Amino acid sequence: MKVALIGCGNIGGEIAAYLINRKGFTLHSITDIDERNTKDLINKLYLNVKVSSIEQAIAEADLIIEAANKEVVKQILSNKAIDKKKKKLLVMSTGGLIENIDLLNKIKRCEVHVPSGAIAGLDAIAAVAGDIESLTLSTTKSPESLEGSPFIVENKIDLFALKTKKTIFKGALKEAIKGFPKNINIAASLFLASKFVNLKIEIVADPSTKFNTHRINCKGKFGELNVEVINFPSKNPKTSYLAIQSAISVLNNINTNYKIGY
Ligand SMILES: NC(=O)c1ccc[n+]([C@@H]2O[C@H](COP(=O)([O-])OP(=O)(O)OC[C@H]3O[C@@H](n4cnc5c(N)ncnc54)[C@H](O)[C@@H]3O)[C@@H](O)[C@H]2O)c1
Repeated sequence: MKVALIGCGNIGGEIAAYLINRKGFTLHSITDIDERNTKDLINKLYLNVKVSSIEQAIAEADLIIEAANKEVVKQILSNKAIDKKKKKLLVMSTGGLIENIDLLNKIKRCEVHVPSGAIAGLDAIAAVAGDIESLTLSTTKSPESLEGSPFIVENKIDLFALKTKKTIFKGALKEAIKGFPKNINIAASLFLASKFVNLKIEIVADPSTKFNTHRINCKGKFGELNVEVINFPSKNPKTSYLAIQSAISVLNNINTNYKIGY
């Protein structure tokens, strides 16, 4: 399978390292808006790959991996060449799928893969979608991780004055995407799995934590589901280790006839 990697940052770099000499995959091209990032990755991993535009990457690859941002997701979904039989798309910036749900719904032939990212339980949430009566995601992060988010800036919240943990946001998915665009992939994935329109999001700032913790509570006809994941960072403190591993797990599933976790 010819692979195009779009976005050569933290996650893209780890995925490229995983793909090297991996049976079933050939890393065909890499793409990044910043030329230094493609050069660095080629030098670091001794890659023999093309540096492509997004358009070329989509046209030539069987599997397109997005590890860039929401805007790139829009570019990919808008490109007619993506919707071909036998093409696969793995999306990390799942907020981009929600923001462009009309484009996503038009995709009929390309297989779109959404990793569970830095949470667990998406399989169960998808299994009981339709039977859900309430669904809440509570995310706790350090002030550093939330700094600069539009909601924080607009409401002039001084995160660094906090002495103890505090809920700084409670609201619906749309407001959360607007207020915390870089922290919302988990909520977006949860919505995609559940299709539950009354999904409630809470964001808690905790000056005493170094970890990103996600708690999901879901109730319905099926019973009650509680999931808590305390994420340790990967080599890069901004990215959870589990987020990278979940993308790699999707690649493992794509590459085998023995698929687990659906
Ligand atoms: N689904 C999840 O659970 C989950 C978890 C962590 C991160 N993410 C998301 O995955 C994405 C990648 O995360 P990361 O930590 O690797 O980020 P990163 O900032 O380290 O890397 C992003 C890369 O994309 C490149 N880029 C930006 N705009 C581009 C464009 N227009 N065209 C091509 N390349 C472009 C950047 O130059 C950078 O190299 C982010 O959107 C992040 O929010 C998702």
